[in-house]
Amino acid sequence: MTMYRTHHCNELRRADVGGNATLAGWVHVRRDHGGVIFIDLRDREGLTQVVFRPEENAAVATAAHGLRGEDVIQVSGRVAPRLPGTENPKLATGDIELVPDSLTILNRAENLPFQLDAEISNEDLELTYRYYDLRRPRLSRNLRMRHRVTQATRAYLDEQGFLEIETPVLSKSTPEGARDFLVPSRLAPGKFYALPQAPQQYKQLLMVAGVEKYFQIAKCFRDEDLRADRQPEFTQIDIEASFVRPDDIYALTEGMLSAIFKAARGVEIPMPFPRMTYREAVGTFGSDKPDRRFGMKLVDLDDVFRASQFKVFRSALDDGGVVKAINAANFSGITIGQVDELTAIAKTFGAKGLAFIKIENGEWKSPIVKFFSDGEKVALTSKLSLGEGDCVFFAAGKWEIATEVLGRIRLRVAEIQKLTAGSEQLDFLWVTDFPLLQFSVPESKWNAVHHPFTRPKAEDLPLLDEKRFGEMRAEAYDVVLNGVEIGGGSIRIHEPALQSKMFDALGITAEEQQAQFGHLLRAFRLGAPPHGGIALGLDRLVMLICGESSIRDVMAFPKNNRGVDLMSQSPAPVDQRQLRELGIKLATDKPA
Ligand code: AMO
Ligand code: AMP
Repeated sequence: MTMYRTHHCNELRRADVGGNATLAGWVHVRRDHGGVIFIDLRDREGLTQVVFRPEENAAVATAAHGLRGEDVIQVSGRVAPRLPGTENPKLATGDIELVPDSLTILNRAENLPFQLDAEISNEDLELTYRYYDLRRPRLSRNLRMRHRVTQATRAYLDEQGFLEIETPVLSKSTPEGARDFLVPSRLAPGKFYALPQAPQQYKQLLMVAGVEKYFQIAKCFRDEDLRADRQPEFTQIDIEASFVRPDDIYALTEGMLSAIFKAARGVEIPMPFPRMTYREAVGTFGSDKPDRRFGMKLVDLDDVFRASQFKVFRSALDDGGVVKAINAANFSGITIGQVDELTAIAKTFGAKGLAFIKIENGEWKSPIVKFFSDGEKVALTSKLSLGEGDCVFFAAGKWEIATEVLGRIRLRVAEIQKLTAGSEQLDFLWVTDFPLLQFSVPESKWNAVHHPFTRPKAEDLPLLDEKRFGEMRAEAYDVVLNGVEIGGGSIRIHEPALQSKMFDALGITAEEQQAQFGHLLRAFRLGAPPHGGIALGLDRLVMLICGESSIRDVMAFPKNNRGVDLMSQSPAPVDQRQLRELGIKLATDKPA
């Protein structure tokens, strides 16, 4: 039996000239030069030029006339050198061409929805024809990169003694902070499985089971508002280990990321990663996932304005708040449109306004300068190292709000100024000492910042009994790369009494604790080892490795930003019969 193909389309070289080859693939480009047909034949490895000359094989050349882009063909023939001067140094196969004596059309491609080599911006159209879009070299490279990353992950964790274990997808809800996707049960009408937001409880139960070192490349499901780096289903590199401290998890994660970057990008990453507490990260960069590839750090101005005549700043301080500023160099040319945009951002995140000063021709231009004393100006100049062309943005108010506002402004200004464009820098960072609990005003209750299984820092344990929840820090950490949170984890609670106390703090009654978490509390009473772990967002990691700005570009079949799979048109209505079996009636009538 003859082979479908003897070579792939990125294989033939000058040394193959004179031999025969059979290739199969897609018609990438077809050109007609006065009766001579040139085809760039493409498979996933690359391109090879195929030339049909009527004088060499009239029948085959005639058949080639009818070829169109994306037809699938098989060609056999002779490998010939390209005519001198027509070599293509940009192509690995650019020295040769295939001169076929046979052409088989394996399948036709009908009207193409869009051209693969054109940069189109109709994402809906691309997602509708995702199987076609994925032929683009960029997306095909991304899929391979993702494969490299998962292979390197498995190899590294296996070497470290971790067992890959699958956990159920039809499971019970674990509160990770998002809404659950529910799956109705036919056998138990009126009851629902929840798709896991993360395998959190299962991996902890595996520690109770004595597994000691677990990992899983796990699908997670979260019904939340979608963004460029969020999908309703995504993948985690999920890890849990027994008898560990945070330092063990840091070293393991750093080793794994180092193996991944070596395999995927061939680069060494600097280790160990620097560490920063949550307070320091938010205080200095206005974010718990700081992008430190540029400066524009937040500067404290409380001392400068404590006795100021400027009411906005003074009253913020009098109310126990802060005044902070960032200095954007070379930004005094800020346009009115940009001022409006940045002010809108400030308001979205809770500020009443966004005071700013620009320095042009040695002059401070701003409606608020008139309120500043000479002493305040001197202090500002020195604290912010002010100079020509600078633009300073101020936020006054509660620490949480002022830092977040300036953090957002900082990122947007950096984006406008393209401060990280083309940067190859890989800035890894551990952010530690997160707050344990956060008060939700609308719900009027305390929520876990991470999840309810996170261990409080030992020093802060007494605060739990004193109900000083807001001051408690968690034994929790995030790993950040270039301003993106690529992973997060914690040391867990393994004592049933402490876990119960934590549920109490979260306002979960004793009955609810038994109903929702009874299995976990019982497990902890059967000799649970101390344990902890981490989960890395695989999609985000691969996105950064590929230099993409959306995780959709590194997922084979993503959903759009409304959670719809445009290709298969899901979610979709289902049969009445299916609903009846599940005991479900739709509330199709909208309430008045
Ligand atoms: P966490 O909720 O921080 O922790 O999730 C871990 C990492 O998963 C990624 N991620 C997402 N990626 C894409 N789309 C989403 N919707 C999405 N949500 C999260 C992020 C994040 O850092 N069980 C804990 C981990 C643990 O404690 O061990 C957990 O899931 O990169
Ligand atoms: P007002 O006194 O409200 O007119 O505000 C004076 C200036 O301060 C305006 O430029 C406002 O945008 C700005 N401003 C108001 N509130 C704040 C705040 N919390 N932080 C920083 N600037 C503010």
